[in-house]
Amino acid sequence: MILKKPIIQYFIITMVLLCFGVNITLATKPSAKLINGETWLDTKGRPINAHGGGILFHKGKYYWFGEIKTGKTWRVQGQKWECYRTNAGGVCCYSSKNLKDWKFEKIALSPNMTDSTSDLHFSRVLERPKVIYNQKIRKFVMWLHVDSEDYSYARAGVAVSNSPEGPYEYIKSFRPNENMSRDMTLFKDADEKAYLIYSSENNATMYICMLSDDYLQPTTTYKRVFINQFREAPAVFKLKNRYYMISSGCTGWAANKAMLAVSDSMLGDWKMRYNPCKGEKSEITFGAQSTYILPLCKKKNQFVFMADKWNKTDLPNSKYLWLPIVIKNDSIHIPWQNNFTTK
Ligand code: DGJ
Repeated sequence: MILKKPIIQYFIITMVLLCFGVNITLATKPSAKLINGETWLDTKGRPINAHGGGILFHKGKYYWFGEIKTGKTWRVQGQKWECYRTNAGGVCCYSSKNLKDWKFEKIALSPNMTDSTSDLHFSRVLERPKVIYNQKIRKFVMWLHVDSEDYSYARAGVAVSNSPEGPYEYIKSFRPNENMSRDMTLFKDADEKAYLIYSSENNATMYICMLSDDYLQPTTTYKRVFINQFREAPAVFKLKNRYYMISSGCTGWAANKAMLAVSDSMLGDWKMRYNPCKGEKSEITFGAQSTYILPLCKKKNQFVFMADKWNKTDLPNSKYLWLPIVIKNDSIHIPWQNNFTTK
């Protein structure tokens, strides 16, 4: 007998399997395998395009924001350093409940395709977007590094949205307190105070600046840390009332040694401690560069180190490394792990 209607076929097969005691849930799609340093796919099987990213946890879901890198990569002429870049594709948003199956939500912040004077024009640099929720204005606030092709603009841009996935409305960019701002991250503390952390003074010194209560502006309260130490790619977390920052050195797109620093308060006395990475290639952060440290919801004191494995001559083909941070007494380490898994 030839069954023409697939639905009838499916029904009969299901009944037969049930008769033989086969658990039908076996037929559900397995989670994507996130192999560190290889292409990661979204729930539609397309490569995840969310570089230099950060994650917001909101109402049971993780929202991953990152740079959209598409098209060709070229080297900007006239720069002494290896200034490779692609057109700015804006910021995308993916969501997941389990940190493995990532659904593409939307382009959260769109590039401007027509006005070459806009901060968001595709010819500019849009990097390292991070999002936090502001309780006071009940909006989601995104900050990102906004720059010109030669990275001389050095500003931090801010955008807002009523929903986590966007679309975000761009407000403006700042040089906080007239200081340069390049690689950046955000940190929101338990007391709802939030901080913008950014490489300044031509990347020589890291700045930590408290944001206004609505998170939409930098305040005049800020601190210079790691003075003349040339750190970038900052990522901050808090553990048992101490603050930790992992950052990289400044070697363009090439991987270098990560360092962990610690302080008793965000605007306190930050001390550079040691390289937290352990294993082969730990001297170059396993070939990657920090972007964010994700506190796991429901799992107190467990964090994931998120990093980008840049492919400087083909930037859209850059990959991700996510590694659980191992905390034992006073030691904080990031051992290599082939696949991203959490216990
Ligand atoms: C390293 C930074 O961390 C990246 O975000 C990007 O700005 C590159 N430098 C540019 O070379």
